[in-house]
Amino acid sequence: MSPGAGKTILVTGGAGFIGSHVVELLLTYGYRVVVLDDLSTGRSEYLPSDAEFIQGDVRSKEDIARAFSVGLDAVIHIAGQASIKLSYNDPLHDLGVNTNGTLNILNACITHRVKRLLFASSMTVYGNPVVCPTPESAPPDPVSYYAVTKYAAERYVHLTGARSDLGFPLNVTSFRMFNVYGERQSLTNAYQGVLAIFLGRVLRGEEIVIHSDGEQSRDFVYVRDVARAWVEALDNRDTYGQVINLGTGLPTSVNTLCNAVLAAFGHTPQTYHVRYQEAQLGDLRTSAADTSKAKALMRWEPMVRFEEGIVRTIDWARKSMETGKT
Ligand SMILES: NC(=O)c1ccc[n+]([C@@H]2O[C@H](COP(=O)([O-])OP(=O)(O)OC[C@H]3O[C@@H](n4cnc5c(N)ncnc54)[C@H](O)[C@@H]3O)[C@@H](O)[C@H]2O)c1
Repeated sequence: MSPGAGKTILVTGGAGFIGSHVVELLLTYGYRVVVLDDLSTGRSEYLPSDAEFIQGDVRSKEDIARAFSVGLDAVIHIAGQASIKLSYNDPLHDLGVNTNGTLNILNACITHRVKRLLFASSMTVYGNPVVCPTPESAPPDPVSYYAVTKYAAERYVHLTGARSDLGFPLNVTSFRMFNVYGERQSLTNAYQGVLAIFLGRVLRGEEIVIHSDGEQSRDFVYVRDVARAWVEALDNRDTYGQVINLGTGLPTSVNTLCNAVLAAFGHTPQTYHVRYQEAQLGDLRTSAADTSKAKALMRWEPMVRFEEGIVRTIDWARKSMETGKT
């Protein structure tokens, strides 16, 4: 029997980049999947036809009640405002979606006695880490508004999971995801996803803009590896109550990323227009995950190397651009 048979999972943000890959994998495991998404950045065409879709907002208790009314075994809460830049442009929106939205989901879990909740946290909670690769035990030091709202939400999730007055066990897990990349990351959203931003620009023949000197590093982890962690954690009791990094442990500089994208299109930084600008508010200098906890608790390791993942992503991006589906 498939592991998901007879179980219903709500995926918030399931029409988005990461969420849609999680939905797809859940369906292959045999779960019934319900998606709650307001389509602010997600796209309904990314939802497999077997998923049940409720268009709604995690800030709306009514929309959440509709989603929970189907009877849920677990909630995968991925919906969020994912841009550091936008968190500065509209901090109240960022707070409303990321923190208040998560509180709404927690309240609904309590009301409906849903015993399992997985939450999309972020490596940004570490700020500029003292230790790199960074373990989960490193002290959080958020340095952007976005990181503050994500960290607050993560703490609400774990403090609620630890409450002894609920009358039932609410088993929570948070994934601090590093820089996720891959198919379906928006090529037109200038606010999130550095690889997809670069790809979109080269495909449209636009200049590439690098903030700072480009020597800042990121840990790029492939979206299908990330989706596998989410789905396999659902029934893994060792992950209950845990905060777990999802990354590769390998820092890649933004200049290296840019060169790889340009090379795939037959360019070099000398033959293509690359412009350097000042660093953005809240940008980190170095970032890489210590993934030993994910390995120990879940036997999870990324399987797709960056060199392969980037080829897959570029192939998808070219096709999307050719077919006008960007
Ligand atoms: N992409 C990354 O590298 C990364 C890293 C760490 C954490 N995260 C977190 O993972 C989650 C998914 O990120 P993503 O990269 O897939 O971005 P995304 O923008 O593609 O996905 C977010 C999804 O949430 C939906 N959404 C946004 N606001 C909503 C609301 N108020 N109500 C209901 N749905 C709403 C969007 O329509 C979209 O489908 C976010 O919470 C983000 O903060 C992403």
